[in-house]
Amino acid sequence: MLQGKKILLGITGSIAAYKTASLVRLLIKAGAEVKVVMTESASEFVSPLTLSTLSKQEVLSKIADNNAWANHVMLGRWADIMLIAPLSCNTLSKMAAGNCDNLLMAVYLSATCPVVVAPAMDEDMWHHPSTKRNLLTIASYGNHIIPVNSGELASGLVGDGRMAESEELVEWLRNFFFKKESLKDKTVLITAGPTHEAIDPVRFIGNASSGKMGIALATELQNRGAKVHLVLGPSAEKVPPGIEVTRVESAQQMFDACVQKFDRVNWAIMSAAVADYRPMEKANQKIKKKEETLTIELVKNEDILKHLGTKKKNGQCLVGFALETNNEKLNALQKLQTKNADLIVLNSLNDAGAGFGVDSNKITIFDKRGGERTFETKSKKEVAADIVNTIIDYCNE
Ligand code: CTP
Repeated sequence: MLQGKKILLGITGSIAAYKTASLVRLLIKAGAEVKVVMTESASEFVSPLTLSTLSKQEVLSKIADNNAWANHVMLGRWADIMLIAPLSCNTLSKMAAGNCDNLLMAVYLSATCPVVVAPAMDEDMWHHPSTKRNLLTIASYGNHIIPVNSGELASGLVGDGRMAESEELVEWLRNFFFKKESLKDKTVLITAGPTHEAIDPVRFIGNASSGKMGIALATELQNRGAKVHLVLGPSAEKVPPGIEVTRVESAQQMFDACVQKFDRVNWAIMSAAVADYRPMEKANQKIKKKEETLTIELVKNEDILKHLGTKKKNGQCLVGFALETNNEKLNALQKLQTKNADLIVLNSLNDAGAGFGVDSNKITIFDKRGGERTFETKSKKEVAADIVNTIIDYCNE
């Protein structure tokens, strides 16, 4: 899994830096190419000569050295992944704030590859609220975090904060590349967000869907190597780069975009909260306030999931969602059947932490073969992983 992988190792000033000598050796042994960038304080804990000897590459630590400029942009582009290990408290806070006062930070800020960090610090620093906040901040930028171990610390105390061992870091990287390539032959269509059905040029019928669940699914699938087409209704959420996005407003536009793409995908996941009805006519001018009551006649929108269910070919997997407030299981199973889906993901508005706008969700997944999997309330990121794992299991059964 690590054969030929390009790993950019960033080393910061922590006693755990001494472990990077064995880390570089293990990575090279596994067939990876390793380039090292270190902060000046890191070189007080481990010698650049040791690392350049083990990696067979020059070790960089200054933006300019011997009148030559270190090309930090190209280093980040060269790498398949940047691993910052050990990550000191100081560099963590710089990453959270976006400070750029050394080569390692310049490389990190311009890196286009995924970044993973292995923190190392004393227990009290590790538990400080600012450390927790900074970790959450860098995780929200998309960085991966390898948990610290508990054990003997440099201070002589015993507790949390030890950097993961070199073998664990290598294992993490192996899993990362395995996961990243596991769906590389899959193309997936996802719908997400609400739809807006225009009443007049300034008004619409819509709903409170944020698009978070669908975007989390698109991100998870992309992280596992799938090619993702996201058909996204009006949503303020950010979509990570690399996901092909078609922005739509109405259910009709969402329908057209999906029908056009469905033939070429392996899986389709319909997580959008599509408006069931649209105004029969859209007024050309803003409707003026005249009478005491106003009646707008609505007509049914085409059901995208149901339509794709009639077009589904052998080998294609179709996944729907069911957001219910009552008779949840019965309604979900009915949708599974009437829409000819393979799997249906039920979330109930009766469950705390589930539904629109929130960052968590609680789901049960039913499949066409009678399978049922219930999950705890989790972050939408974790829920996305559960859904993807369930689709994989269903397809491999
Ligand atoms: N769906 C769709 N197109 C529609 C309506 C719904 O593709 N016009 C999809 C949703 O994306 C979801 C599933 O159908 O995957 C179920 O949506 P939901 O709103 O829960 O159910 P409806 O079929 O609209 O039925 P109801 O509103 O009566 O519960």
